[in-house]
Amino acid sequence: MSMTQLIIPVQLAVILLVVSVTRVSASEEVGRLFKGHCFDCHDDVSQEGNFQIDQLSTKSVTHDSAKTWSKILRKLEAGTMPPPMQERPPTKDVASVIEWTKRALADESSNRHGKGGSLTRRLNRLEYENTVHDLLGVDVPLKNLLPEDDFQDGFNTSAEALRVSPNAVNRMKSVLGV
Ligand code: HEC
Repeated sequence: MSMTQLIIPVQLAVILLVVSVTRVSASEEVGRLFKGHCFDCHDDVSQEGNFQIDQLSTKSVTHDSAKTWSKILRKLEAGTMPPPMQERPPTKDVASVIEWTKRALADESSNRHGKGGSLTRRLNRLEYENTVHDLLGVDVPLKNLLPEDDFQDGFNTSAEALRVSPNAVNRMKSVLGV
């Protein structure tokens, strides 16, 4: 393998690492918000409003926890929890917890409707080309060498349309010479 061929797999590994780390910290952020702003009133001791979330897993939303998460989402979106007289959590943190919750609820719902679990969304052809350009500074038109994107409801960035077929992976890898 030549030096340039070696660099690309390393870059790809870094991308994958960044993506997975981002996922972990999103879930950690949820835990941090709860610990700092919710557990005072919603742990096993307080259970204000008969509501306890200190045992709630922040890894993902399950069938059993979906209802609880929907309630949390509603309160966070309305800005009514923590209650008005309490210290406000940073807006940015609340926003990312709202985003995480929405996505985790959507994942749970698509699991339940038998859509084959949480979908791995790959970049579409243009996104992939742009990413490679940005990361590697190479300006080759990769887009047309890659498999066609499926369109789902007119959006070629939806996870549903961007299922990763083995063929797509192979084509992406061969374009990069990996
Ligand atoms: C100072 C105490 C306090 C804090 C802090 C607090 N809550 Fe509450 N929470 C309450 C009380 C009291 C109720 C019941 C009255 C109500 O629904 O407003 C409640 C109710 C709720 C409910 C509705 C439960 C149900 O079954 O309908 C949710 C959801 C909730 N809180 C989420 C949160 C979240 C998420 C946080 C942190 C971001 C939080 N709360 C922080 C006191 C608190």
